[in-house]
Amino acid sequence: MMVDIQGLTKKYGSFTALDNLTLSLDEGVVFGFVGANGAGKSTTFSILSTLLSPTAGDAFINGKSVVREPKEVRKQIGYMPDFFGVYDQLKADEYLDFYGASYGLSAAERQVLIPQLLELVNLTHKRYEYVDLLSRGMKQRLCLARSLIHDPKVLILDEPASGLDPRARVEMRDILKHLKSMGKTILISSHILPELAEMCDEIGVIDNGKLIAHGNVAQIQDQLQGDKRLVAKVMDDIDKARAFFEEDPLVSSIEVIYGKNEIAFNYRGKTNDQVNLLRKAMLAEISIYALTEEEKDLEDVFMAITKGADEV
Ligand SMILES: Nc1ncnc2c1ncn2[C@@H]1O[C@H](COP(=O)(O)OP(=O)(O)O)[C@@H](O)[C@H]1O
Ligand SMILES: [Mg+2]
Repeated sequence: MMVDIQGLTKKYGSFTALDNLTLSLDEGVVFGFVGANGAGKSTTFSILSTLLSPTAGDAFINGKSVVREPKEVRKQIGYMPDFFGVYDQLKADEYLDFYGASYGLSAAERQVLIPQLLELVNLTHKRYEYVDLLSRGMKQRLCLARSLIHDPKVLILDEPASGLDPRARVEMRDILKHLKSMGKTILISSHILPELAEMCDEIGVIDNGKLIAHGNVAQIQDQLQGDKRLVAKVMDDIDKARAFFEEDPLVSSIEVIYGKNEIAFNYRGKTNDQVNLLRKAMLAEISIYALTEEEKDLEDVFMAITKGADEV
């Protein structure tokens, strides 16, 4: 286990920003941390990066405690914050040189490493450019290069794609793929679920400081979905079919579409319940020749579960 978070809680006065978060990640996993603004993503990442102390709980990075061994943890992680400072009069290579020196790398080591890092984040052509003159996407990539300077095992990236245009996002995603192939364990946050879905092995959804779902994309969809909307196509007596569905405790919001001999309804059951439903219908001699699910896309599911949190 590369990242092991145990009951992490952060309170600001009486307000609980992070509520008993428990989560573990294996080495090499790309983990997407998704939640609306104010959900607690940055708080979590700041604690994992040892910049903020938890009110309760602990987290272990490669076995080192963020509470008791922050110096050891810092060697294991590269952190990219969700903001980029102002670097008046500093060029890209000077910026990396400064951070390299602060991690104790010698001048000779820095001289070898900096061109490699710039290459990795596609900034070789901007080596002698002033940092403040770089585009937002370039600044993000430079910041990523900085977080890699001590070759950390774990990368913690707070909204690295936020504010980027589509092209810059693709570029960022390709770099992350490359980092994954190097064996890094990567934690990346976003308030946009589909953005993470395509590049992450696992997703965690946080809402009001609580982890409300964790798993691969399909599992998340299942955990968050709530009611499905099903449509049954019925061969003959539609009113008989309606009466049948009305009796099922997992069915609600029935709508009969007479013109098409269809019944639409919300269904609270799981897949195996659905199989039983069809079996019961057959026994009751209701001739259902098709049962389909209205597709909800991932973003709708996410919006439904986190609605209201944006106003925080
Ligand atoms: N220093 C602070 N003092 C008080 N409340 C804070 C502080 N930092 C963050 N919060 C609150 O904690 C909650 C979680 O914030 P944050 O972790 O930044 O969320 P996210 O990164 O998911 O947008 C928010 O409601 C935010 O207003
Ligand atoms: Mg944040």
